[in-house]
Amino acid sequence: MLPIILLLSLVAAQQPGTNTPERHPSLPSSRCTVQGGCVPANTSIVLDSNFRWLHNVGGYTNCMADGKFNTSICSSPEGCVTSCAVEGVDYAGYGIKTQADSVTMNLFTVKEGKTQLASPRIYLFDEAEGKYANFQLLDREFSFDVDMSKAGCGVNGALYFSEMDMAGDAGKGNTAGAKYGTGYCDAQCPKQNFIHGKANLDQSLGACCSEMDIWEANSAATAFTPHPCNETGVYACKGELCGDKNRLDSVCDRDGCDFNGYRNGAKSFYGKGADHTVDTTKPFTVVTQFYTKSGALTEIKRLYVQGGKVIPEATSTVKGIEGANSMTDGYCSTQKQLFGGGAKAPNAFATQGGMKVMGEALGRGMVLAMAIWHDAGGYMHWLDSTVPNDSPPNALGAARGPCPTTGGRPAQIQTEQPDAAVTFSKIRWGEIGSTYK
Ligand SMILES: *[C@@H]1O[C@H](CO)[C@@H](O)[C@H](O)[C@H]1NC(C)=O
Ligand SMILES: *[C@@H]1O[C@H](CO)[C@@H](O)[C@H](O)[C@H]1NC(C)=O
Ligand SMILES: *[C@@H]1O[C@H](CO)[C@@H](O)[C@H](O)[C@H]1NC(C)=O
Repeated sequence: MLPIILLLSLVAAQQPGTNTPERHPSLPSSRCTVQGGCVPANTSIVLDSNFRWLHNVGGYTNCMADGKFNTSICSSPEGCVTSCAVEGVDYAGYGIKTQADSVTMNLFTVKEGKTQLASPRIYLFDEAEGKYANFQLLDREFSFDVDMSKAGCGVNGALYFSEMDMAGDAGKGNTAGAKYGTGYCDAQCPKQNFIHGKANLDQSLGACCSEMDIWEANSAATAFTPHPCNETGVYACKGELCGDKNRLDSVCDRDGCDFNGYRNGAKSFYGKGADHTVDTTKPFTVVTQFYTKSGALTEIKRLYVQGGKVIPEATSTVKGIEGANSMTDGYCSTQKQLFGGGAKAPNAFATQGGMKVMGEALGRGMVLAMAIWHDAGGYMHWLDSTVPNDSPPNALGAARGPCPTTGGRPAQIQTEQPDAAVTFSKIRWGEIGSTYK
């Protein structure tokens, strides 16, 4: 047991606020074995701390003004941790609804008759541990059901793993911790207000970590994409190691190696309507398997289950990766050469360690994140349309989905798809072959 004095001093740190109690909506998940079947786990969801009100301890003044810490509240990385409290949230107000083992996230919410952007990001939380649920997926498979019917072009209903600290960096001067959704990182090294439990005062640091994108998708296109980093856990990058100027300078593979059936030539595999192998007007199951050889990740396989039928991943028809329907280091290097401009095409996936390094992160344990977003920078064309948008029709790898190059603008999405939403359900993981029939 900690002495009481120490406990009291720990409480004076980036702390939970006292205005709104934090109540995690329940989202049960399952652990599965081939022999024993699936056993429910007591998990819930927690909204990322960036979406929460951060204010001075004991008062009501925002700690942040115009994206910067208010220096009359705090002016040092440790001081802002001591002086700022993060509040609980009303999940419905952020467009998040749970029911039994499913969670629906809306891109927009309506407040006082006005549509506004919600774009929430949530994590799976382990109630028994009081930390994020720890997924160790090496030699395992991960499954969920999804309803993509309300996520059209330009929308991304995302489910992925980041190598965040399981406690959300609690204990490093941060008593709010995972319960309040702290400690985010991903392979884009995003600027965060707090990193390693310290305030990122001048926003010079990025929070980098390995990321396994299981599901980036809408009803028209889908991709899975590992992004390894050459640092373990959460790495606070500075300057060029964040890759903001040149993506290839980053400690992380910011582009990743993508498997997108449409991009690989299988244009009628995934999409809206019965003329597609996977029909996104109806729910389906997504299974992702992580195979190893001598302990190292060598292959990521995907399959779908819809209407009682097991459907293998789309098979590539592109010459050079013809027949490929899973991901290996070989697939990634050939695909990058074919799509990225020849043998000299940069392959940051390989530079940052490829499948092996991605597998090491999957083995250490990662946090499950779910989000819905639109893309003010690239209009999501990298996922569902054509890049560059003036590519000739037969340019290898340019077309990633059937969405128009004129679409995907946030304002347009708000007008045309005010009800954009994604529903994830039946999250389960365990031995290969144990999570689906
Ligand atoms: C900064 O904090 C001070 C002290 O609490 C407050 O008076 C001031 O209004 C805040 N500034 C902004 C821009 O919120
Ligand atoms: C799950 O954990 C929470 C927090 O410990 C507890 O209050 C709740 O009763 C648990 N629920 C189940 C179904 O075990
Ligand atoms: C990680 O990758 C970056 C970019 O390639 C490189 O500058 C850095 O030296 C690498 N770090 C390690 C520890 O290998």
